[in-house]
Amino acid sequence: MDKATFTAAATIKGPMHASLRHDSAHKHVTGAAEYIDDIPEPAGLLHGALGLAERAHADILSVDLSDVAAQPGVVCVLTAGDVPGVNDVSSTGRHDEPLLAETRVEFHGQPIFAVIAETRDIARRAARRAKIEYRDLPHWSDIDGAIANDAPTVVEPMVLHRGEPETEIGKAPRRLKGTFHVGGQEHFYLESHIALAIPGEDDEVAIWSSTQHPSEVQHIVGHVMGIASNAITVNVRRMGGGFGGKETQGNQFAALAVIAAKKLNRAVKFRPDRDEDMVATGKRHDFRIDYDLGFDDEGRIHAVDATFAARCGFSADLSGPVTDRALFHADSSYFYPHVRLVSKPLKTHTVSNTAFRGFGGPQGMVGGERFIEEIAYAVGKDPLEIRKLNFYGQPGSGRTLTPYHQDIADNIIGRIVSELEEGADYQARREAILAFNETSPVIRKGIALTPVKFGISFTMTAFNQAGALVHVYNDGSIHLNHGGTEMGQGLYTKVAQVVADAFKVDIDRVKITATTTGKVPNTSATAASSGSDLNGMAAWDACRQIKERLVAFAAAAWNVPEGEVEFLPNRVRIGGEQVPFPEFINKAYFARVQLSAAGFYKTPKIHWDRKAGRGHPFYYFAYGAACSEVSIDTLTGEYQVERTDILHDVGRSLNPDIDKGQIEGAFVQGMGWLTTEELWWDAKGRLRTHAPSTYKIPLASDRPKIFNVALAEWAENTEPTIGRSKAVGEPPFMLGISVLEALSMAVASVAGYRQCPRLDAPATPERVLMAVERLKGP
Ligand code: MTE
Ligand code: MOS
Repeated sequence: MDKATFTAAATIKGPMHASLRHDSAHKHVTGAAEYIDDIPEPAGLLHGALGLAERAHADILSVDLSDVAAQPGVVCVLTAGDVPGVNDVSSTGRHDEPLLAETRVEFHGQPIFAVIAETRDIARRAARRAKIEYRDLPHWSDIDGAIANDAPTVVEPMVLHRGEPETEIGKAPRRLKGTFHVGGQEHFYLESHIALAIPGEDDEVAIWSSTQHPSEVQHIVGHVMGIASNAITVNVRRMGGGFGGKETQGNQFAALAVIAAKKLNRAVKFRPDRDEDMVATGKRHDFRIDYDLGFDDEGRIHAVDATFAARCGFSADLSGPVTDRALFHADSSYFYPHVRLVSKPLKTHTVSNTAFRGFGGPQGMVGGERFIEEIAYAVGKDPLEIRKLNFYGQPGSGRTLTPYHQDIADNIIGRIVSELEEGADYQARREAILAFNETSPVIRKGIALTPVKFGISFTMTAFNQAGALVHVYNDGSIHLNHGGTEMGQGLYTKVAQVVADAFKVDIDRVKITATTTGKVPNTSATAASSGSDLNGMAAWDACRQIKERLVAFAAAAWNVPEGEVEFLPNRVRIGGEQVPFPEFINKAYFARVQLSAAGFYKTPKIHWDRKAGRGHPFYYFAYGAACSEVSIDTLTGEYQVERTDILHDVGRSLNPDIDKGQIEGAFVQGMGWLTTEELWWDAKGRLRTHAPSTYKIPLASDRPKIFNVALAEWAENTEPTIGRSKAVGEPPFMLGISVLEALSMAVASVAGYRQCPRLDAPATPERVLMAVERLKGP
């Protein structure tokens, strides 16, 4: 590059806040992006398949795998006895999740053995030839069954309590009680789970795992193999979607691949097909919410008492923090003067439910929105009016304290909602819809504007830390690595923007590299939407260290004060001289400046005492609102989303285009959860919706016909996060609640809006039709 061009460049390509395409976007669409199953296979690779239980709850009397082992091409069959270390893959340390069931199975689809064969097809066919005798035990697969059977909880329930809900609820002018069933959700990532293990010398092993949490795969493999973490390297360049489903659920596949690889000294790959993946891995928790509300004639909430029961499955997995987060979001955006919220994380004989975008928050929030809806119908007002009446206030208003005793200091929900109300022309459209419904015999319309307030941070304080590793090579190119994983959300791009911005170089200079436990240790799951907050800051810290050394070097070598050294776009100014970045780096190398650094970050301010139900669990909140309009066919229950307008807060966006993509995707996924996606287990505890033929995720044609998504351009994080940005991964998922509420209004129209339709989720066309029939009456 000649001096004239680089001095002229006033900016760099790809700084923070620039809209830049996802680093792999072109590779995603052309198929060039390498997923684990695309990695060239090592010589002698073997393939594994799971042998799954065919009972929901039973003692195993005998297991005869002779026919399995006798199939040509089968190399070995693994059972619990082949586990060298501990037969447990629980992420909680509770030892409640055997890798392979030994004497008892606790859900239909639980792995009992694994077949290792020359091909995947042989392994899968052989797995079906097992002869297993069971003695059935009583089982229940849903929340009502768990309650009827007095089921235990998988973890200690949590209680959030403030004020005197016990007495205030009775003193309130109005009171009502109700129950709300909210369904679960299958992640339906495009790439199913996969693990490839390649054995090394001694106890060493290298693993490629489709995981959001490489450090945990490393930890669990160590536990299962009885070897130390330093022998295990876990790698992941990208996932074809995770959505929380790859936070803990990849452990079993990685552990089995490693056991087989070390036993046979050959590379082993596990890649369940879609049906197996859906049957054998956990999903979003469905909830039953029982509520008791005290309010006044205006619609102002006085007291809330609610229980959030969840189907957790057979083990704890992440059910504790998931049900906790449900309670943390049961206030939605509203101030409850007196409140008691209780979780019931119930054990069921189903696959252990797990993280899913929002991590329980959506179930809590949709509960809070149901409370508002109930009150609105009870007092005969537009739910939006009741929402506004009950919003948290500004500091000093006396209406800022959450049920977990954290004060809300950064509240912008009022502004977001009023701007969207204005921008989406809510009032006029609602009037028009009310008029339309009066004269339309079959088609009815509904509109709803719902808010989102989502707490950012892991509630487990220790997880709020991150590391990064930055190398500057002596040709001036930069190698970036950090503990976060890429699952399509654009984290790698955003962190690369941070590094480009730190050194003031074009982003093309920054090589994004695969996440590996060998470069950054002890990482947290890429979850809780905190990937860019944590890893962005860790990378910034690494760059800062290198830059400080460079500045000190330049000041000494050029004999100028440090203040005279300045990073300009693709060059460094030292006094009156400007040196191109690569040339400057090369000089620093010859002067023996250390050009590599490990960065670190931990989130300040947060703490949480679960027992007391008090603390400051969230560093800040992300806000947003959506306004959706739907039309329903009252004869069939079928519906369409006519239009959705969204205004969402991402602080100062690190990458507006990527953030808009996150918002659009999250909204559609949230809408799918509350409308067409229905999980169904039969009386034997078998999941019968285990393929796209029976499980309906939204199609491109289901998206709102008019879809306007905007960022709150004026928003800025009040906390000093990276570039004053806010997390975006999960919060917009809950914008989908607007669709459920709009459907509810359309249903309510058949009874003159006098009754809350109490539409359960998912509001499938069948449920909408049944609600219409119920409201119409005999
Ligand atoms: N976006 C895509 N495309 N694919 C995904 O799997 N996962 C979501 C969200 N957005 C996901 C996604 C979930 S559950 C979380 S917690 C965040 O991304 C995690 O990434 P982040 O912390 O970098 O936002
Ligand atoms: Mo996201 S559910 O926190 O992986």
